[in-house]
Amino acid sequence: MTTWRGKRALITGASSGIGAAVARRLAAEGIDVILTARRRQRLEEVARSIVGAGGRADILPADLGSAEAREALVRDLLAARPGGVDLLVNNAGFGYGADFAAMPWATMAAMLEVNVGAIVHLTRLLLPPMLERRSGWIVNIASIAGEIPGPPLSLYCASKAMVQALSEALYREYRQRGIYIGMVNPGPVATPFWAVAAGWEAKRWHHFGVSAERVAEAVWWAIRHRRKRVYVPWGMRVVRWLNLLAAPVVDRAIPWFLRGPGKQMMHR
Ligand SMILES: NC(=O)c1ccc[n+]([C@@H]2O[C@H](COP(=O)([O-])OP(=O)(O)OC[C@H]3O[C@@H](n4cnc5c(N)ncnc54)[C@H](OP(=O)(O)O)[C@@H]3O)[C@@H](O)[C@H]2O)c1
Repeated sequence: MTTWRGKRALITGASSGIGAAVARRLAAEGIDVILTARRRQRLEEVARSIVGAGGRADILPADLGSAEAREALVRDLLAARPGGVDLLVNNAGFGYGADFAAMPWATMAAMLEVNVGAIVHLTRLLLPPMLERRSGWIVNIASIAGEIPGPPLSLYCASKAMVQALSEALYREYRQRGIYIGMVNPGPVATPFWAVAAGWEAKRWHHFGVSAERVAEAVWWAIRHRRKRVYVPWGMRVVRWLNLLAAPVVDRAIPWFLRGPGKQMMHR
């Protein structure tokens, strides 16, 4: 039986949505949570709510789109806690709905850095101390978008497919060495993600979306049961098979399903 109380977790993208809900969920189990994202004030609010509920939370603001900032984040974290963390939840990410050929390169590069680069880099930096202890849990927040890719979120979907492939490979690489690495694939979730990514028809998705708390529950379940691939809601797993078995239908349906007038605003 694992004793969770007193374990330490770093949660990225903890200023909002799923990350904030995961931080609250882990803190409720007695896990000391370290919250990171760019917006300090939002991180402070989430940390205050955790402490108010009897948990322990620290913040380390960082822009995960920069390799230097990621290194500085881990340096600060290791200075305060030489053993690193027991759990890492790689959650930070954003989408951008646009015609691929019209998408600004700066936005494309930032998306690859945050959605993929940060996961690769933080895992690379924080895994070695876990391996020394032969104990650690890493959960990557991917998406069903990685399994049914299409416009106008083409690059976003591709970034999530990479997260899925990496998570699966690392699950196989480290499971015999005491380390659990898995992924959670949400369908639409009612968070500010859609306002950031789409701007268009955000309300439609808010109607559809499950709550961030439900995703946080799935993350906690994945950790406890060391599950390689978890879907929220559970039925979303059919999407993977739909894409494989009904490709000609999906080719026509996906652009229609995710249609929108295109991106009006830059990401934060
Ligand atoms: N909502 C959905 O329907 C859905 C579905 C499947 C998967 N997901 C995935 O779930 C994850 C969380 O999304 P969410 O729905 O909770 O959206 P959200 O509420 O917009 O949260 C995104 C988080 O990522 C952080 N972030 C973005 N860019 C960053 C950067 N450069 N440096 C550091 N942090 C950054 C944001 O913090 P700051 O702005 O403060 O930096 C924020 O905390 C994402 O990976 C997303 O792809 C979402």
